Amino acid sequence: MKKVTALTVPEGDGVVVKRLMPVHGLMNFDPFVLCDHFDIDSGGFPDHPHRGFEGVTYMLSGGMQHEDNLGNRSTVTAGGLQRFTAGKGIVHSETPKGRAHGFQLWVNLAKALKQIAPDYEQVDVADIPTDTNDGVVVRTLVGEGSPTKLQTPVLYLDVSINKASLYQKQIPQGFRGFVYIIEGEVILNQETFKASEAAFFDQASLLSLMAKENSRMILCFGQPHGEPIRQHGPFVD
Ligand code: FE2
Repeated sequence: MKKVTALTVPEGDGVVVKRLMPVHGLMNFDPFVLCDHFDIDSGGFPDHPHRGFEGVTYMLSGGMQHEDNLGNRSTVTAGGLQRFTAGKGIVHSETPKGRAHGFQLWVNLAKALKQIAPDYEQVDVADIPTDTNDGVVVRTLVGEGSPTKLQTPVLYLDVSINKASLYQKQIPQGFRGFVYIIEGEVILNQETFKASEAAFFDQASLLSLMAKENSRMILCFGQPHGEPIRQHGPFVD
C-alpha cells in the first residue's frame, strides 16, 4: 500500500482540479490513466479531442454538460455519470452547469481495442445501484449491477461511511487500484487517510475501512492490461 496526496493543478479553461494522476512520480496506474477531483463553478473544457481510452465523469453535485461530434448533447446531474469511449477518436466539450463537483477517471483501452468506434452513454442517478447497510452507503458506478459498460473490468464505487462504522470489500483477484478520500477520515491498514489522500494497492484482497468521522470516498480497482501506457495530453496510445 502506498499513500498519495492529490495535487492541485490548472486544467482546461480557467479550471483548477485536484489531480491524483498523472503527476510526477505517478504517471498512471494500469489500467488507470487519469483521476481528477474537480469542484468548479465556471470555465470548463471547450471542444477538444481524445483517443485511446474510456472516460467516466461522475457527479457528486451540480451538473456537467457533454457535447460531442457524434451528436450527443446531455447534462448529467448529481449522482449520475457520463461514460465516453474515445476509441479511435472523439471531440467533445465539457461545461459545468452550476457548481460542478465530481470526478473524471480515465481507463486505458487494451491495445487491440484502441481503434474501436467512439461511443457515449449517460447513466442517471436512478439507474445506479445503491446499497445501505449498517451505517454504510455504497453506490456501484461501475461493476456488478451497474448499467455502465466499460471495455476493461473495473470496480468503481462511491462509499459513504458513518463515524465509527466499518466497511469491508472483497477486491476481485488480479485487480489493482486505489481508495481516495473525498471528505472525513478513515483507517485503512492501520494508517489514517484524510481528504485528498489516497491509498494505492498493487494487489488487494479484503479491504477494511473504519471511519473516524463521517466519511466519503471513491474506491476504484481494475484489471491491468500489462501494456505500456503512452499518454500525450488528451491521447493515450
Ligand atoms: Fe475531455
